[in-house]
Amino acid sequence: MQRLIINGGKRLCGEIKVQGAKNSALPLLAGCLLAEGKTVLRRCPELTDVFAACRILNELGCKCSFRGGRVVTDSADAAGWRISEELMREMRSSIVFLGAVLGRTGKCELSYPGGCELGPRPIDMHLAALKQLGVRMTEEHGRISCSCPRGLKGAVIDLPFPSVGATENVMLAAACASGETLLRNAAREPEIKDLADFLNCCGADIKGAGCSTIRIRGVKKLHGCEYEVMPDRIAAATYMAAAAATGGELGLLGVRCEDVRAVTAVFEEMGAGVYCPEGRIFISCSRPLRAVRVIRTMPYPGFPTDAQAVVMAALATAQGSSMIVENIFESRYCHVDELVRMGADIKVSGRTAVIQGVKKLCGASLRAHDLRGGAALAVAALGAEGTSSVGNVHFIDRGYEQIERVLESVGADIRRR
Ligand code: UD1
Repeated sequence: MQRLIINGGKRLCGEIKVQGAKNSALPLLAGCLLAEGKTVLRRCPELTDVFAACRILNELGCKCSFRGGRVVTDSADAAGWRISEELMREMRSSIVFLGAVLGRTGKCELSYPGGCELGPRPIDMHLAALKQLGVRMTEEHGRISCSCPRGLKGAVIDLPFPSVGATENVMLAAACASGETLLRNAAREPEIKDLADFLNCCGADIKGAGCSTIRIRGVKKLHGCEYEVMPDRIAAATYMAAAAATGGELGLLGVRCEDVRAVTAVFEEMGAGVYCPEGRIFISCSRPLRAVRVIRTMPYPGFPTDAQAVVMAALATAQGSSMIVENIFESRYCHVDELVRMGADIKVSGRTAVIQGVKKLCGASLRAHDLRGGAALAVAALGAEGTSSVGNVHFIDRGYEQIERVLESVGADIRRR
């Protein structure tokens, strides 16, 4: 099992070119199935979850090659409609292939997706929305069989909660359905807009992505295109947290400031200087950091749940008492016990965490339990006194491209063992 060995206390300084967004690359890869012919995705992050998505494409008969951040797919022979349980279990986002496979073949058989480390992650909203588009479903031994006896038909769909994955599934399934789909209470995350932009680039007719109501006019077919994946706003938030935890100064290149406003506002409240010229974010942190009043994770444009853990790691040594309320996932505080091992003073009660800032954290032997929680441990270890080892690095590798090389390039003492 691989681990990161981090000698903390080194101030991070320099520039980081931020990777393409994992959470956008995955639905875009599913969208490649719908685009007849060749599609090129640039700035695709080399991550285990992205490799898993490529394996799903291969299983469905879609050619997929990955080199130097470019994924080239060719869906000419993509007639497959069954996704094996093994691949479905590899990651939660495998469920976005459902909408794409239905759009492509009119049927699909798959199992429940994996990735349950944040507590229960049901797919009821995905299934209910797809049913409204004319999909019939049966379930046996954990396998879900879907068919559209009369084809996919546009509909008016009201999501009970702006689920990111359900919004993506509806967009993918409705892109080539007959008629118009009106999706209300849709997720507004920037990754939704990126998927719509990509599908439109392939010939789809999707309007309103990024707002609560999305209108999708079904078109006959989509064609391939070349497209660049949007920047990863959560990787950007993580490197900002690393700058804060080490009293450092970082320039993040190739990012969109508007995507991370809720996060930069928190760092500013902590006392960091944040400057956002076009396509870049500069963050400068002198210690001591200040506590913040309360952070509530919310759907976009609110504070992202995916940045909760890394910001908590920075708050662990801020002066005063901060509070975080996790509203999106039930069980997203697995990193807290590990931070406490390092000397943090954090108390969790239900969805609320109270962080009483301590003077310093001490290096410890740590274990990641999930992707963002794992990244938070790395952030805390960078700012801590002494050496930490972070086990279960495979969680971190799901979302961060070569994390140790990136951090080393800005002055961290970090290696993988
Ligand atoms: C996506 C992101 C994830 C992020 C999350 C919230 C990807 C690959 N993952 O996950 O990193 O943390 O958005 O911003 O893009 N829910 C249901 N039933 C459903 C669907 C969702 O109850 O059918 C619940 C979930 O359990 C969760 C909440 O709704 O509590 C939000 O989930 P959702 O927005 O769907 O997140 P994901 O698409 O899974």
